[in-house]
Amino acid sequence: MPGTRIIDIPTADRLLHVIRISKQPVPFVELCKREKLSPESLHDHLAYLADCEYKLVIRKERVEFRSAPDLLTAIEIQHGLKTKVMGRQCHSFASVKSTNDHAAQLADQNVPEGTIVTAEQQTKGRGRLGRVWHSPAGLGIYLSMILRPSFPPDRAPGLSILTGLALVDAIRAQTSLPAMLKWPNDVYLGDRKCAGILTELSAERGKIHSVIVGVGINVNHGVGHFPEELRTRATSLRRALKRKVSRVELLQQFLLSFEKKYAQYQKDDLKSFATQLKKLSYLLGREIELQSGVRRIGGRVNGIDSTGRLILETPSGIELISAGEVTVVK
Ligand code: BTN
Repeated sequence: MPGTRIIDIPTADRLLHVIRISKQPVPFVELCKREKLSPESLHDHLAYLADCEYKLVIRKERVEFRSAPDLLTAIEIQHGLKTKVMGRQCHSFASVKSTNDHAAQLADQNVPEGTIVTAEQQTKGRGRLGRVWHSPAGLGIYLSMILRPSFPPDRAPGLSILTGLALVDAIRAQTSLPAMLKWPNDVYLGDRKCAGILTELSAERGKIHSVIVGVGINVNHGVGHFPEELRTRATSLRRALKRKVSRVELLQQFLLSFEKKYAQYQKDDLKSFATQLKKLSYLLGREIELQSGVRRIGGRVNGIDSTGRLILETPSGIELISAGEVTVVK
């Protein structure tokens, strides 16, 4: 068919890599030779890369790299990624129902620890307690990480705290915004939520098969991208910063921070994070009400212990809380 381009994606990826790392414009002849392409086919592959929003400057039969799109594709995520394990296998989608559901299927197929699933959009993004996680296309980070820790299942809840700390670190490093960790699963900017974590465990006879850690970050959402009922309670990094944030760089930073903290957590729980937990805890010192199953408890937050439990001073003494939904009273 006239006008039809035949593109080999791995070839396009290799061409992109060569052009990207080159310090100077790369001659077409060199690229054709390297990939055994005709000049027409090289042209088609470059046009394909331009369609994928890569900015390439073509002059005098040479091509030069200018910029990459802020898309959560495996190529972009892995380019410049400094981790050893996290994200080394990456399954990226334009749209999925839920990255956590997809990751659970992959986990059953025995993919290695550190495999991640990302999507530009989720059509059935899930939050905690059966809630919906709104996941509009191209604005947020929707990520699931597959972990296979050798520790027992009762240590899995600490992973949510750890993930929250890594998120706070990455947001602070990338934007200088004073993000805080709200026990047990949220990240706050001021009094509004900008990220949430959904940790799902698969275990049998006291042994973890896999943990899926799902992370949703409101990155470049404008106010109109949130449903009406969330507009006063949720925010995005862009709203707080008044400029767009690179999702790819934020994700890379998060994966690196998570990898370091996860290694430490496997050695000694949350002990080495005590200072950070104190400094970065949104709830520390606040009066709260906590719904834990059918119980409703009120008290003042005294900290988070080394297993991730909330230390609550109640009228009847100190309580250590493993899970629950917190409402701040003052
Ligand atoms: C919460 O705050 O309630 C947790 C939100 C977790 C949302 C993320 S987005 C990626 C992953 N896939 C999902 O379906 N949910 C998590």
